[in-house]
Amino acid sequence: MENLIALVNRLQRACTALGDHGDESALPTLWDALPSIAVVGGQSSGKSSVLESIVGKDFLPRGSGIVTRRPLVLQLHRIDEGREYGEFGHLPRKKFSDFAAVRKEIGDETDRETGRSKQISTVPIYLSIYSPNVVNLTLIDLPGLTKVAIDGQSESIVMDIENMVRSYIEKPNCIILAVSPANQDLATSDAIKISREVDPKGERTFGVLTKIDLMDKGTDAVDILEGKSYKLQFPWIGVVNRSQADINKNVDMIAARRREREYFAQTPEYQHLAARMGSEHLGKVLSKHLEAVIKSRIPGLQSLINKTIIELESELSRLGKPIATDAGGKLYMIMEICRIFDGIFKEHLDGVRPGGDKI
Ligand code: GDP
Ligand code: NA
Ligand code: MG
Repeated sequence: MENLIALVNRLQRACTALGDHGDESALPTLWDALPSIAVVGGQSSGKSSVLESIVGKDFLPRGSGIVTRRPLVLQLHRIDEGREYGEFGHLPRKKFSDFAAVRKEIGDETDRETGRSKQISTVPIYLSIYSPNVVNLTLIDLPGLTKVAIDGQSESIVMDIENMVRSYIEKPNCIILAVSPANQDLATSDAIKISREVDPKGERTFGVLTKIDLMDKGTDAVDILEGKSYKLQFPWIGVVNRSQADINKNVDMIAARRREREYFAQTPEYQHLAARMGSEHLGKVLSKHLEAVIKSRIPGLQSLINKTIIELESELSRLGKPIATDAGGKLYMIMEICRIFDGIFKEHLDGVRPGGDKI
């Protein structure tokens, strides 16, 4: 099953390399058919922190205010051994083994598109992380939903962000991590509002409750975590991320996770829920869910790819051979890749030749 997810990651990476989804003829459908996980919620609800702790690495810009200003498409690839590293879509072949440098590059690349402003951009940044310490997942960090435009932002920003977020999470193949902070009323949660809009039955929405440690004294999140306040198909998962003070003090991930585990195990209200709380549990739940989704989709992906091949072939013959133009060359390359993928899918379906899934 690990292979299966690695395969999908490779497929997505190939699509990315061949041109971002949105323009090339057959690629949008191919891309859209594959599951990914997006994080949604209000500004500073803890979205980037949640993603970071799923990954188990410090590499995302976090903080109060509007920090995440472009979508970040993050692919985690499990490798058996060796040093972990990151690689950006806009800087192919440059390996980042220093995750502080990854964070800096996300910030710099954000600024390249938006200027050093508070503007947001819908143009995604692609980042792959290769590590022995991750599960295979594709995650999307999104700018936070806001209620009002602030200085330096256009009036349309509130709707712009909402539309952008919706464009990711409305896809039926998108698994939604709806992040709500426990120190705000759940009834006002932007995450719940927008995810309910695109997934009314909660079939692909996971409720994540952050900032449980910041709740007012005398209140607790038990009703929410037990699904009594707002019922979702999947159980709510509570997390305790690092606070701004922790970030300032450079509290590392391992210490933060240990503290999170202790928090749930030792707080009397949450002891009975401790086994299904925390970032590590969230990572496991998501990986398992993703595997199930991908497995159920393989037959559909296969027919989609067959259809893509047919479309590309007719496009190629329309262009006429030999293909001299760039467009023709690219189409030919895509078609070849589709053929390879088609073979891979057949293998996975039939269960023959395990390990033959290399491109
Ligand atoms: P985003 O804007 O939704 O991506 O949120 P960030 O991950 O950037 O976090 C915003 C701020 O909230 C940062 O200062 C974090 O340190 C803080 N924060 C996030 N989650 C928690 C949490 O569970 N507990 C505490 N105490 N602070 C948190
Ligand atoms: Na923030
Ligand atoms: Mg963020």
